[in-house]
Amino acid sequence: MKFDIKITKTQTPKAKPQDETSLGFGKIFTDHMFLMEYDKKNGWQNPRIVPLGPIPTHPASTVFHYGAEIFEGLKAYRAVDGNIRLFRPQENVKRLNQSAERLCLPQIDEEAGLDIIEKLVELEKDWVPHNDGTSLYIRPFVYGNDEFLGVHAVDHAVFAVICSPVGAYYKEGLKPVKIMIESDDVRAVRGGTGYAKCGGNYAASLRAGERAEQKGFSQVLWLDGVERKYIEEVGAMNVMFKINGKIVTPALTGSILPGITRKSAIELLKDWGYEVEERLISVDELFEAAANGSLEEAWGTGTAAVISPIGQLSYQGKDYTLCGGQIGELSQKLYDQLTGIQWGKVEDKKGWSVKVCNA
Ligand code: PLP
Ligand code: COI
Repeated sequence: MKFDIKITKTQTPKAKPQDETSLGFGKIFTDHMFLMEYDKKNGWQNPRIVPLGPIPTHPASTVFHYGAEIFEGLKAYRAVDGNIRLFRPQENVKRLNQSAERLCLPQIDEEAGLDIIEKLVELEKDWVPHNDGTSLYIRPFVYGNDEFLGVHAVDHAVFAVICSPVGAYYKEGLKPVKIMIESDDVRAVRGGTGYAKCGGNYAASLRAGERAEQKGFSQVLWLDGVERKYIEEVGAMNVMFKINGKIVTPALTGSILPGITRKSAIELLKDWGYEVEERLISVDELFEAAANGSLEEAWGTGTAAVISPIGQLSYQGKDYTLCGGQIGELSQKLYDQLTGIQWGKVEDKKGWSVKVCNA
């Protein structure tokens, strides 16, 4: 099922960024956005692409008071075959629906969701940047907007998609990042919303993130919310460790985001013959491995972060430098393979890369 999307083009297109080396992340937006509204009786209504601009919202709207909001993040690439391509976009639509289920927000037909993203990207294709390492970041989101202050699952919602040409998420680019393991605040607990991509998870993470930033770290690595002992994930990425030649990554126990880059990296690593253990990994085990030299590499995986090598881990005032603060061999190989598939530079044996249109 696809929607009949009405397109109204802007009369005042903006100039595209001239200097693609300083795009950063999420600072510039394209000319158009997708919008449609939901009400319980009629379902999704009025699907349309319109000039990007403010969305008038009633001050009693649920999203302002009770955090009824979920989102996704995926990228469009200007591939070397002359096409604009997406990376596993069906996975994002599926995850949006899983998040919607958790937050009692309306779901979207998968085929229709994918078609919306493709139509918007096609219209905005000239905004997909050209430089190596750049892409068009696509941010679909759904929020509840009942004009009602009672705490209740919503009867009204909005689905919107905006796009932003981006470069590297971290200012370090592919250089290793410094990560602080957080021992006070927690991000999520099992049974909570950790596995959903909802705005509230990020709001709860800001205080620790700010403290870490003030100390010179890029992001926080969360521990589990109950025992405060097991590694979970970083603010905007999943984590993986190479210990004694094996890959260890936290299992999807419900409190971490099931990352699409994580899933893809696990498949690639297994194809390359690595043993991948998805299990609980305690901070003690990690630091024992760091101390005895068996922790060979650590990296984060994420759409925005791609493969981000971790050069330093800090916990309760102790610092551990990993891989001599350099990018590890396997992190580099994963980065090259994943981005190679995304930019169409290496053969996509898995069919992960989806053509949207000619560039
Ligand atoms: N964990 C968190 C908290 C994130 O925000 C993200 C980014 O989306 C990820 C993990 C990685 O997920 P994905 O690889 O699907 O982008
Ligand atoms: C992503 O990688 O798409 C994210 O959502 C991370 C983030 C900027 C919150």
